[in-house]
Amino acid sequence: MILQSVAIVGGAGYIGSHVAKAFRDDGFEVHILDNLSAGAKGNVLSGTIFHHCDILVPSSLDRFFGTQKVAGVVHLAARKAVGESMNIPLVYTEANVIGTHNVLASMYRYGCKHFIYSSSAAVYGTPDYLPIDEDHPLNPDNYYGYTKKCSEEMISWYGKLVGISSISLRYFNAVGYDHAGEIRGIESNPNNLLPRVMECAIGVRDHIDVFGVDFDTEDGTGVRDYVHVSDLANAHLLAMKYALTCSEKACTHSLNLGSEKGASVYEIIKASREITGRKIPTKEVVRRPGDPATLIASSQQAMEILGWTPKHTDIRDMIETTWEIYKELESAYYASKNRT
Ligand code: UD1
Repeated sequence: MILQSVAIVGGAGYIGSHVAKAFRDDGFEVHILDNLSAGAKGNVLSGTIFHHCDILVPSSLDRFFGTQKVAGVVHLAARKAVGESMNIPLVYTEANVIGTHNVLASMYRYGCKHFIYSSSAAVYGTPDYLPIDEDHPLNPDNYYGYTKKCSEEMISWYGKLVGISSISLRYFNAVGYDHAGEIRGIESNPNNLLPRVMECAIGVRDHIDVFGVDFDTEDGTGVRDYVHVSDLANAHLLAMKYALTCSEKACTHSLNLGSEKGASVYEIIKASREITGRKIPTKEVVRRPGDPATLIASSQQAMEILGWTPKHTDIRDMIETTWEIYKELESAYYASKNRT
């Protein structure tokens, strides 16, 4: 039985496709809006409806919202490379801030009032205390984090002024893959740690750079709160269900999503070596600018408000589900090399 329709903007991306799966499996009619610049057609799940749509082309959004009646929107389409955001800030303003404005404006024009936003722990910057809760000051260290903070503020004004209910979800470090193996797309030229470690395991990359071994952490490497992408996806579903109850008076929340546990770069590499059985050579290099030593979430508010509980909090589970995808690619990669 179909409950309601939702639009997932950026639903052909890594996190977006997992979000689409959570909604589809819960009985929603799912519309995927994506321009496929970073997402892949292969990530568009069966049982969902694809619309080629660009958040920087308002007419393409209007075409969608003008013809489809959806109860709410999950907006994930964005640029997300922290280093790149410092070099090409205007591109990040356009994609992340103006793009978000365009989605909200089109929703407003067509009377759609429920909005779930893909935000980031990058809004906090270097933490003053741990674990980081939502009362922590917002001092992003990089332009990517600023675009997320700026968008959150704009979204909250849309709540006050035009009655759009919203929940901004501040992800810590998203990793892992769907346990059923339905989502198999990978990112090309990834910047994040685990996909790079996996590329190293299958021999596409000859080593992994460890960005700093002199942090004030147990083994000297950066500690992050890794959260399974399927847990993140489930939080979007719960957030939408919550927002849909806020029809009379618009609600606005910003909530952390993390496992509330930290793992260091070396711990990730060690566990990856054990799981993959591969060597995964490392090279210790200088710190990446703007990288804090430790980021760990308090997710208490998401637990209290949404009733969210992350289920896959074991880092080995996150690595194993990722390895399942890369292992298969490895065979395809070497089969194609042998043919040439
Ligand atoms: C950053 C953002 C996060 C955002 C994510 C999206 C901050 C503080 N965090 O996460 O909000 O959602 O990007 O991409 O801005 N590392 C290596 N070698 C590598 C790659 C990474 O040692 O080749 C280390 C990093 O120094 C860090 C850890 O691995 O300690 C995780 O890095 P990464 O996966 O890039 O994520 P964040 O930078 O934590």
